[in-house]
Amino acid sequence: MSNLAFDQNENMNTVAQNPIPTEGGEQLDDIRPIPRVTIQAFCETESISRTLEMTAQDRRMAKAHVKVHMGGIPAAVDFYANAPTPNLIVVETKKTGSDLINELGHLSQVCDAETKVVIVGVLNDIVTYRDLMSRGISEYLVAPITMADVMTVITKIYVSPESAILGRTVAFIGAKGGNGSSTISHNIAWSISSTYQTDVVLADTDMAFGTANINLDQDPAQGIAEAVFSSDRVDDILLDRLLSKCAEHLRLLAAPSTLDRAYDFEKKAFRQVIDVAQRGVPYVIVDLPQQWTSWTMDILASADEVVVTACPDLTNLRNTKNLLDKLIQMRPNDAKPKLILNQVGVPKRPEINVSDFIAPLDIQPLAVIPFEPALFGTAANNGQMISEADQKHAVSESFDKIAQILTGKAEFKQEKSNSFDIRALFKR
Ligand SMILES: Nc1ncnc2c1ncn2[C@@H]1O[C@H](COP(=O)(O)OP(=O)(O)OP(=O)(O)O)[C@@H](O)[C@H]1O
Ligand SMILES: [Mg+2]
Repeated sequence: MSNLAFDQNENMNTVAQNPIPTEGGEQLDDIRPIPRVTIQAFCETESISRTLEMTAQDRRMAKAHVKVHMGGIPAAVDFYANAPTPNLIVVETKKTGSDLINELGHLSQVCDAETKVVIVGVLNDIVTYRDLMSRGISEYLVAPITMADVMTVITKIYVSPESAILGRTVAFIGAKGGNGSSTISHNIAWSISSTYQTDVVLADTDMAFGTANINLDQDPAQGIAEAVFSSDRVDDILLDRLLSKCAEHLRLLAAPSTLDRAYDFEKKAFRQVIDVAQRGVPYVIVDLPQQWTSWTMDILASADEVVVTACPDLTNLRNTKNLLDKLIQMRPNDAKPKLILNQVGVPKRPEINVSDFIAPLDIQPLAVIPFEPALFGTAANNGQMISEADQKHAVSESFDKIAQILTGKAEFKQEKSNSFDIRALFKR
């Protein structure tokens, strides 16, 4: 529901004033906690910046990362010329008409594809409102605004049943055991969360032998097993208790990595936990064991992206061909699975060269990662990510590049220099 209530008589071209919450925040009571989104605001007046700062302190915003700057749209344009954009940008402006559209055009050129924009403006005019909505602006609030206005808008974008699901799921599977699929998935989760300052949940579904806890140096008492074995009870509150914080923007749903019980699951066993995670964070990375079961197939079928990691030998080639064909058949309306070639160039090991490997697959790999035992071994033994062990290493750069492509930011950066249409750039 919008906080902008239209007058019954639209011919009057006016928008009703934003409702004022009563003392004690009666209107806030109905607002659900806001998920782990990043929000940055660029204000022109002290009063709007104060309202946003106060909103950021509210308990319902405890999971969101909010930063409030001054300087309005021009400051935002400067800032994002060299920085990734957050999930939501709030800009205050007194500009109207073509001046406003021009400034927004500049902003759209530095915005990443999935970033939403909310404007706090001065015009109480339905024509302006409709124009901005049609150009991809998520909401236009008329100043002055209240905390309830701000939270209602964020709820409308990220929490209400009509809002699009926040999180994208990327599932990683190896074409053969030991290919490095898990290691790569952990490093990609790390790279997305640290490069883009956006929240990521890494779900390690290899119950018996999962390594995310070791690689991220965590030893949580609970994790994904509790979520899956009490699947019907999983909600955002339980999930929060099961997540262990690895970095400011990275949380792990760790596998128990113990052999106390058998881990047999129904086809839909992981659906609820992944669904709840997806509603709470912008990215969910799922590390799958190298198994072909009804539940791994179900996760692969429903993920937004699938990444297959292969090594350059004949068994891998056969398995990769089978996996890619099957995944394309299972996901006819989704992006094709992505391929990473890993552990290329093991000394003295005969291998299929990269071009011969990919020729029958009709796919270009996202990356070709060399065999680097010292680097991977040191990182693994120290409970570190590759970029923590050696940030300048080409493998760290490969992981950043893969993260950029999987989040859609790379493709966007190529497009954006040609475009000045804010409709094309906001709200995708
Ligand atoms: N490019 C590489 N160079 C050297 N060692 C690597 C490389 N990639 C991964 N490794 C190492 O290979 C081993 C297996 O990696 P990992 O556990 O990630 O594989 P996996 O595909 O998830 O295996 P599983 O089938 O058990 O799930 C780890 O010790 C890891 O550090
Ligand atoms: Mg693994």
